[in-house]
Amino acid sequence: MKSESLNVNFFVENRKKLASRLNAKSVAIVNSNDELTRNGDQDFQYRQSSDLFYLTGLIQEKCILTLCPDHPEKNMREVIYTIKPNEQLETWTGHKYTKEEVIEVSGVKTVKWLEDFEMTLRDIVLSSDNIYINLNEYSKYQTDVAYISNRFALKIREMYPAHNLKRLAPLITKQRLIKEPEELRVLGIACDITNMAFRRVLTFTKPGDMEYEVEAEITYKFLKNGAQGHAYQPIVASGDNALVLHYIENSMECKDGDLMLLDIGAEYSNYAADCSRTIPVNGKFTERQKQCYEAVLRVQKEAIKLYVPGNTIDIVNKAVWKMMEKEMIGLGLFTKEEMKNQDSEQPLYAKYLMHGVAHFIGLDVHDVGGKYEKFEKGMVLTCEPGIYIKEERIGIRIENDIVVGDTPVDLMAEIPKEVDEIEELMKR
Ligand code: GLY
Ligand code: MN
Ligand code: MN
Repeated sequence: MKSESLNVNFFVENRKKLASRLNAKSVAIVNSNDELTRNGDQDFQYRQSSDLFYLTGLIQEKCILTLCPDHPEKNMREVIYTIKPNEQLETWTGHKYTKEEVIEVSGVKTVKWLEDFEMTLRDIVLSSDNIYINLNEYSKYQTDVAYISNRFALKIREMYPAHNLKRLAPLITKQRLIKEPEELRVLGIACDITNMAFRRVLTFTKPGDMEYEVEAEITYKFLKNGAQGHAYQPIVASGDNALVLHYIENSMECKDGDLMLLDIGAEYSNYAADCSRTIPVNGKFTERQKQCYEAVLRVQKEAIKLYVPGNTIDIVNKAVWKMMEKEMIGLGLFTKEEMKNQDSEQPLYAKYLMHGVAHFIGLDVHDVGGKYEKFEKGMVLTCEPGIYIKEERIGIRIENDIVVGDTPVDLMAEIPKEVDEIEELMKR
């Protein structure tokens, strides 16, 4: 694995906590993610299931974890099944975990080969009443493609129709939402590496560069400093492209006088940073760009104060939309009178800020947890207000990753965002 492995005790504790949340006489089953075909015999880069990683630290395909805390035999309470390494497989695809390595990485003492799974599972299932499966319950998840836990759930229901199938996702979500010190440490490193890349962009960028050249500098800085790569498809959007919220082509020339919106994040030890910054391509904001930029920055600074226990994403969104509405009047985008007569279903601000401004972050850039989840100490979320004014070719977003606390902690406090600082660092 590029970057570092997390301490084995982290995974041991995560399983212990999860086991304590299961109903009596239960088994929880968590699978590795599928390997996904790109075309022909080529796969997309493999990405471990975040839940399986969180519970074991394993980053290999075809691993299965079963947790059965009430099993009469102690050595059957935690079991990992994995591919039996063989010389031919290893010649083509490299090293696979030995049993000893699985134990070392995960702390699970019982490791079996995958070929023994069905028989052992039968024993475990027959000593349980409930079977917990971890389905993808992310609210915006939508696909026609069946995935491993989904297929597995159907198979289990067919094989054991008299057992209760139960949802693991709510239990793991509750747990993954609160970040342990070990997680905050690696999230901090992901943010620090993102800082290095952004500072490189500030000294590198000039009119005439292609967006993909800027992307290449970012990728270089990420890899050079120990990140696994990008935590998500990077956005390097100059001029009009910044108005496309999910622009990822990064194929255009950066033009003199335009702004450039970057949405980039390093991935370190499987944890994601998520940062947006907006800079002037030629190193100096125009008066109007500066006016708009400072409006967003003011709002972000106020919004960060809301990352305290008891609030929710929903509350933050509504407060930020309200603050931005006021700023938009100040920027002359609409008047107070026009606002009074607006259609409440289509408020005027939504023309210029059409997205929510916070999501949980962790093992995934859009991590588990919904918009009504009450903030608790140790949760980590983004704070990302923006403004998108099509008529003026201005797209601005400023995004930092914040740890919830009585005093919120900004993991990206070192990533420049003041106008003066950006302009100073862009001087050459
Ligand atoms: N980078 C994705 C997001 O900001 O939500
Ligand atoms: Mn984000
Ligand atoms: Mn982002």
